[in-house]
Amino acid sequence: MSATIDIRHVPHASPTPADVRAGLIADPGFGKVFSDHMVTIEWSAEKGWHDGQLRARGPFTLDPAASVLHYAQEIFEGMKAYRTADGEVVLFRPLENARRFQRSAARMAMPDLPEQLFLEAVETLVRTDADWIPKEEGGSLYLRPFMFANESFLGVRPAASYIFCVVACPVGAYFKGGAKPVSVWASTDYTRAAAGGTGAAKCGGNYAASLIAQAEAIRQGCDQVVFLDAAEKKWVEELGGMNVFFVFDDGTLLTPPLTGTILPGITRDSIIRLARGQGMSVQESLYSFDQWRQDAASGRLREVFACGTAAVVSAIGTVRYKDGSFTIGGGTDGEVTRSLRTRLTAIQRGETDDPYSWRHKVAL
Ligand code: PLP
Ligand code: COI
Repeated sequence: MSATIDIRHVPHASPTPADVRAGLIADPGFGKVFSDHMVTIEWSAEKGWHDGQLRARGPFTLDPAASVLHYAQEIFEGMKAYRTADGEVVLFRPLENARRFQRSAARMAMPDLPEQLFLEAVETLVRTDADWIPKEEGGSLYLRPFMFANESFLGVRPAASYIFCVVACPVGAYFKGGAKPVSVWASTDYTRAAAGGTGAAKCGGNYAASLIAQAEAIRQGCDQVVFLDAAEKKWVEELGGMNVFFVFDDGTLLTPPLTGTILPGITRDSIIRLARGQGMSVQESLYSFDQWRQDAASGRLREVFACGTAAVVSAIGTVRYKDGSFTIGGGTDGEVTRSLRTRLTAIQRGETDDPYSWRHKVAL
């Protein structure tokens, strides 16, 4: 079995005309508009990875007994391609996504996709659909690599066949309010992940389990849910789709540690490095919801922000919970949040130097 395989190009019969595409990407929102193509690669126990194709985006044919439909063997990634001012197309730390995909696959008893094949699949799609990258400020092409079990078999065991696929989505801001601070609902009835579970893997099941809490957050008038730990319902973990940072009056930052129940965000890691690089102290420590409430009241806590690929860096202004609500820093976008967001997005978009070599240029 070879680690590298060719990705065969199957021409699209009727690509979207340029004027229609321009209309679609003018104000794409998040996750609603898709580019013309997708990459698929199959895996079977006999052949390993095989039949790589770049082809027109379209539906899969699945047997009703396909194991993903019953036992949810599915993982995914989220990453973005940006068009720089001088016309280059760049990805942000794509090998980190490839590695996290491998770790998610291992946890879900799925086959290992070589890093280079992951990268080649993503680059092939970006190169082909580069004209789908929105040009307006804040726009990017969101890439969604994913893998699922398609063996038709109802016994409970790891499947013997899988499909890996990448689709692309021109996107603007994740939150409708743009950079305006978001509100979060602290869920005490539902938790996201427990020790020994799949919290550190990017598997669809984690998100399925979070939807009822996210729906509750929306009912409570909040943008997102923030989860507490499953064992004590005490420690702040992360949001439904973002990690969280706290900024204190002495200039220090704190973010919950990677204990196995939260997703090791690539944005999280980048923020830690940028902040430490600027001489700030960043602790990866447990932080309780009670402490959060007290520190917001005393003014010791100055800013809180959420971060992730889709949401970038978003200030959290208001927190609601069963017994009340509180605001942080007057509910506005704080200085540290703003400066870290500006620095990160400037690196991602090629507007500044790249001291950590995070940009990955896609050959067009
Ligand atoms: N936490 C969860 C649950 C997520 O879904 C995401 C988004 O991918 C993140 C954190 C942030 O991860 P990253 O910065 O790698 O996008
Ligand atoms: C991402 O930021 O890439 C995510 O996966 C978060 C959400 C869209 C699920």
